Amino acid sequence: MRRCATTLEAEMTPAEHQLLLETLQQAPTDGLRLEIGTAAGGTLCAMLDALPVEQRRFVVVDPMKYFPQQLDTVCKNLRDHDLDPGTVDFRVSTSDVAFEDASARQEAYSFMLIDGCHKIRSVTIDLKWTRLLAVGGVVCFHDVVPELRGVWLAVQRFVSRHPNYELIAQADSLLALRKTAESATPEIDTSDEWYARMWYLPLQVERKWKKLHKAA
Ligand SMILES: C[S@@+](CC[C@H](N)C(=O)[O-])C[C@H]1O[C@@H](n2cnc3c(N)ncnc32)[C@H](O)[C@@H]1O
Repeated sequence: MRRCATTLEAEMTPAEHQLLLETLQQAPTDGLRLEIGTAAGGTLCAMLDALPVEQRRFVVVDPMKYFPQQLDTVCKNLRDHDLDPGTVDFRVSTSDVAFEDASARQEAYSFMLIDGCHKIRSVTIDLKWTRLLAVGGVVCFHDVVPELRGVWLAVQRFVSRHPNYELIAQADSLLALRKTAESATPEIDTSDEWYARMWYLPLQVERKWKKLHKAA
């Protein structure tokens, strides 16, 4: 069982937490707000709480298989914080499926927290969502550290290929970027997908190898 399933805590350090809430409060107010990967909803509660009551709405994308009764747990966590689960648009789905639906509806976002699966192919899919981020909007990536190579490689590639995303700040493993101009082409293209495919297997082998060595 994941620790957060019983503690209901956010999976972030205090410094990450502070930067996240600052950028959330500075982001434009006229678009949707998104969290990809919510665990027990600890960070979601903090984000909703940091918003004025009339703006307390979030879209959450998560397959809700992180631990048993994950969705019920998130709703309980919200209620325990005097927050209404009805203000959250839960999309119980993987990021790729939810992205296709959101794109078809031409949704526009002003804030995104990307904190889903750490595998390079999943992170690359999550990065597709930035296509729906409005100019001036903010995207935060969690777990951007060299040790989590799937997140690290995908996010570094994204940053190096998109100068229209400026660095706001970084705290521990949280990276906050602002979109300063529209991208001429979709942020994630076929070359990014091939890059992720190429790295997928070596990173899986490396991860298993490290696990074996740790256990030995
Ligand atoms: C690291 S936890 C999120 C932590 C949370 N943001 C917090 O700060 O407390 C990762 C989450 O990603 C979700 N997840 C796993 N695969 C996913 C996918 N393909 N699409 C969206 N979310 C996914 C898991 O169910 C889990 O809830």
